[in-house]
Amino acid sequence: MMERPPLNVLIVEDDVVDRMACRRTFAAAQEAAFALLEADSGEHGLAIALQGQVDCILLDYGLPDMSGLEFLAQLPPSGPPVMMLTGADSAMVAAEAMRRGARDYLVKDGDGRYLAQLPTAILRMLREQRLLDGKQRAEAELRKLAAHQESIREDERKRIAQEIHDELGGLLTGIKAYIGVAIERAGGNADPLLAEASVLAQDAIATVRRVITDLRPSVLDQLGLWAALEWHTEQVAQRSNLRSACRIEPDAAELELDAGRSTMLFRVVQEGLTNVVRHAHASSVQVDAWREGDSLLITLADDGVGITEERLRNGASWGIIGMQERVRHFGGELHITHRETGGTLLRLQLPLEGQP
Ligand SMILES: Nc1ncnc2c1ncn2[C@@H]1O[C@H](COP(=O)(O)OP(=O)(O)OP(=O)(O)O)[C@@H](O)[C@H]1O
Ligand SMILES: [Mg+2]
Repeated sequence: MMERPPLNVLIVEDDVVDRMACRRTFAAAQEAAFALLEADSGEHGLAIALQGQVDCILLDYGLPDMSGLEFLAQLPPSGPPVMMLTGADSAMVAAEAMRRGARDYLVKDGDGRYLAQLPTAILRMLREQRLLDGKQRAEAELRKLAAHQESIREDERKRIAQEIHDELGGLLTGIKAYIGVAIERAGGNADPLLAEASVLAQDAIATVRRVITDLRPSVLDQLGLWAALEWHTEQVAQRSNLRSACRIEPDAAELELDAGRSTMLFRVVQEGLTNVVRHAHASSVQVDAWREGDSLLITLADDGVGITEERLRNGASWGIIGMQERVRHFGGELHITHRETGGTLLRLQLPLEGQP
């Protein structure tokens, strides 16, 4: 049978006696092979943990140079899982530690009975960690896939828009021009059907233009996100008899966002506006954008019937999930809530690293 390498357990504990007891426990453990690394202070413990050889950490609460909570705060989220060792009367401490990222805890009793549970508890924690890692990896992969598909779709839309513009747009313009010439040649005696045909051709041209801009609003490329948002909000409002307002604060307007972010923000607001038109029965809609610290905030508020709690809880609505995924891909967050004054509020927060 192949020997498994020992599990590297780091104990961060200033009490020599406790450390020694641990050492003895692991040396005698039947459950697995453990190798114990020891640190007698928080700093020392962090230094060892950051070297990357540690499988898990046993953390005493009261260290000479920092508290267990401070230790947890300094440990990177990708660091090894931590089991808190607490005194018998410190359920609160354990709960707080778990909230701050400890994976588990064990209560140290005076006569050292906790030591017997230690190996099993560690193995359980590591098993959970592996499951969690797997789940997170799978989620990250899915997210990457979704983003990739999104960018393919975006390219595809651009290509189709281009093709419709070049082929169909050209044809219709040609037809309309011929009709115009025919009317002109007939002088005052043109068949009234020709005039109607000309109107139809003009409608068709307008429709093509709308389809193209829905597929890929060229204002987004030409004028940038903010003008595109103002333009699109107004278009949607006009088409569906809504009052609309778009308030872009100067601190947001001056931001230079890359193409990926601009498209994402545009698509999310677009999707949000579509929802307002389709579901809200609103009479007005408002888009706001401003900067708050290191974030860009965009809100979309309507005064309609409001989104139901059930819809919000029940995660399976693809429009909203799609918006959320798009935003998360850029490290942002999207929240949708029922407004106190009635209606629905969509709030998007996007971190702005690297922006002055
Ligand atoms: N502004 C809004 N006001 C009221 N209800 C809303 C609003 N936005 C969304 N909803 C509710 O949330 C549900 C989910 O929205 P979501 O965009 O995910 O799906 P959808 O619009 O029904 O379908 P699609 O996948 O085509 O977007 C909607 O069906 C609607 O009931
Ligand atoms: Mg929708």
